[in-house]
Amino acid sequence: MADSRETFVNQAFVVGYPIKHSRSPLIHRHWLRRFGIEGSYEPVAVSPEYFEAFIADLKRGTSGFRGGNVTIPHKEAACRLADVPDALAEELGAANTLWMEEGRLNATNTDGIGFTASLDAGHPGWENVDRAVILGAGGASRAVVQAVRDRGIGEINIVNRSVERAVELADRFGPAIHAHPMAALGEVCEGAGLFINTTSLGMDGGAVDEMPFERLLPSAVVTDIVYVPLMTPILKQAEAKGLATVDGLGMLLHQAVPGFEKWFGRTPVVDEELRNLVIADM
Ligand code: ATR
Repeated sequence: MADSRETFVNQAFVVGYPIKHSRSPLIHRHWLRRFGIEGSYEPVAVSPEYFEAFIADLKRGTSGFRGGNVTIPHKEAACRLADVPDALAEELGAANTLWMEEGRLNATNTDGIGFTASLDAGHPGWENVDRAVILGAGGASRAVVQAVRDRGIGEINIVNRSVERAVELADRFGPAIHAHPMAALGEVCEGAGLFINTTSLGMDGGAVDEMPFERLLPSAVVTDIVYVPLMTPILKQAEAKGLATVDGLGMLLHQAVPGFEKWFGRTPVVDEELRNLVIADM
């Protein structure tokens, strides 16, 4: 009997609402062209009231999709509706990558892996530090906190404008994670070897107060998940103080890799050509 997967067409989606700003089609279509795969990657706008029906269609196997990416506002629902969410998605309560396997809908969250893969590429050895500071405790921060914890960094300090959100995150992700108000930023930067901005500060050219980067270790790495502009005010401040920096674009590119592997069966590379393609679109 024919493998039922052979009846799928080579098609994946990114589903969100709205969806027109997603850069995922640019990334996946580039890789499809690179491999010469006859396939497609389609943005699909689905409003929240229709998301469950969209997933039901996917599970029936009649949609033509092998799977796809999920973005705002559907990441939590995608995790809940999947048949097999993996441990990463389950702990986060949110999924950004779905794929059908043996008739069941699998889900994972690749944001954290994308983040650490970007640091691995940009500054190998970044994880060999005793203390990290993570600024921000919103949706984007969760996957970063989880991923940094999973790489074994001993002490993680989350600093957030609303301290209660930092406390909730710290409680959720483990005993070596501490929550602090903004007023403690200078103190927690003292002797830290990794600083991560997960807030929207500096996005689209917004101004940012002076960060206490002189208190970080001279060997510290500063990274920002904001990637518009590529050289954010936070990265500029770090560079001015002689610190190493890794920009946020790598996370966007690397988080896309596992999905492509699942749907199209090939392992794509994140290289300068892809970076430049996305930069040209910004
Ligand atoms: P996302 O899903 O992109 O993380 P979010 O959940 O709205 O979006 O979180 C935005 C993060 O940026 C939060 O940590 C937010 O701080 P609060 O939790 O106190 O709202 C932070 N943030 C946004 N604007 C900020 C500002 N002007 N100063 C400090 N932090 C800010």
